[in-house]
Amino acid sequence: MVAAHQATTRHLGAAYPFAAEPGLGGEGVLVGRDLFGGVFVYDPFVLYRRGVLSNPNMVVFGQIGRGKSAFVKSYLWRQSVFGRRAWVVDPKGEYGPLARAWGTEPIALHPGGRLRLNPLDAPGQGEESAEEVARRRGELLCSLAGAGLARPLTPAERTAVELAVTEVSKRSDEPTLPLVVDALLAPTPEAAATVHIDRAGLAADGRSVALELRRLVAGDLRGMFDGATSPSVSLGGPVVVLDLSAVYHSAALGILMTCAAAWLQSSMRRGRNSGPVLLVVDEAWAILANLGVARWLQSSWKLSRAWGVANVAVLHRVSDLSAAGVAGSEQVSLSQGLLADSETRVVYAQPPSERAGATALLGLSETEEELVGRLGRGVALWKVGGRAFLVQHRLSVHERPLVDTDARMAAG
Ligand SMILES: Nc1ncnc2c1ncn2[C@@H]1O[C@H](COP(=O)(O)OP(=O)(O)OP(=O)(O)O)[C@@H](O)[C@H]1O
Ligand SMILES: [Mg+2]
Repeated sequence: MVAAHQATTRHLGAAYPFAAEPGLGGEGVLVGRDLFGGVFVYDPFVLYRRGVLSNPNMVVFGQIGRGKSAFVKSYLWRQSVFGRRAWVVDPKGEYGPLARAWGTEPIALHPGGRLRLNPLDAPGQGEESAEEVARRRGELLCSLAGAGLARPLTPAERTAVELAVTEVSKRSDEPTLPLVVDALLAPTPEAAATVHIDRAGLAADGRSVALELRRLVAGDLRGMFDGATSPSVSLGGPVVVLDLSAVYHSAALGILMTCAAAWLQSSMRRGRNSGPVLLVVDEAWAILANLGVARWLQSSWKLSRAWGVANVAVLHRVSDLSAAGVAGSEQVSLSQGLLADSETRVVYAQPPSERAGATALLGLSETEEELVGRLGRGVALWKVGGRAFLVQHRLSVHERPLVDTDARMAAG
């Protein structure tokens, strides 16, 4: 047996200079133990206010079962002490115990089910000009259609979407996906005249997009995002969990998660005076796997800074940031953009194949690169702004039932 080695934190600091950090101050929630001494306390809103961080967003990376979601759940729970609210896109249906501990039920969506959320909901009266709202709706629809078609839309297709959104927004206070699909399939003479084309020509331009979006309206994914938001959906509680586990195995998971995140964002902005909110997208690789919706996510992160929202994205590998199957330059700019917009990176163990990529993208030192290959469950390298910490996340006995995903696996 190898004898345990003991050293002072001062000596350890010399051996591992990346982690010789005095902490981030005592204001915020307790995450766990700083393995180089003391406790580790973190609060994105406080650090943002103090100018330590230029944005409050966080990306959590880590192999399966390392404790990413457990950390996020307990972190949200501890943040609630400070009155912070949490909104969660939950693709595996594992945030139910957390929601119930807060006294609310998750909003569970099923294809063909009763509950609907309208991703085209407006952000609220007076919040944005009508043009801005229409532009944002158009962007979302182009992203969704581009993701479904697995290619960027052509200029003609984009124009058809914009015209359809404008038409529908004029006719209805509550545009929905079915209305936009109809407007794309059967454009008005006025919309066609705007771009000096006949109706048949404009309909032809928008047809592929309409048929792709129709999948959410009349196809296998209908009955979730294809109508006005159900009145029974309550947003009053301290936590809102959107349970998408019924479609976890769908090839369109990323598209559905994007609809869910879009709806959350517009709803959040309607109640934006109610204090800081944490918006979590667990299993966010499903969104990032497609360039169309990944770009939408990135642009929404940029915007949300102004609304007091701290975004948290949970990923497996650093390479999840590079959307699959697109040209190199686009991948690089997307991943760099999202990382630039998330100054807190929490890195759990990474497999050997990912280490070089992690080092390059996250700017790890040699010691850190070696370390992320052998971190145990619950231990992560935290990069906060320009600083680094090695943190063991600690769970209380009360939190364990809220985060236990092993029991579910064992039961299933
Ligand atoms: N800090 C910790 N201390 C003790 N147990 C932990 C800790 N973190 C996580 N666990 C346990 O490990 C199990 C897996 O954790 P978790 O579900 O968070 O993994 P994950 O990284 O999100 O995995 P996946 O990628 O599959 O979603 C859970 O049952 C949880 O109770
Ligand atoms: Mg998880």
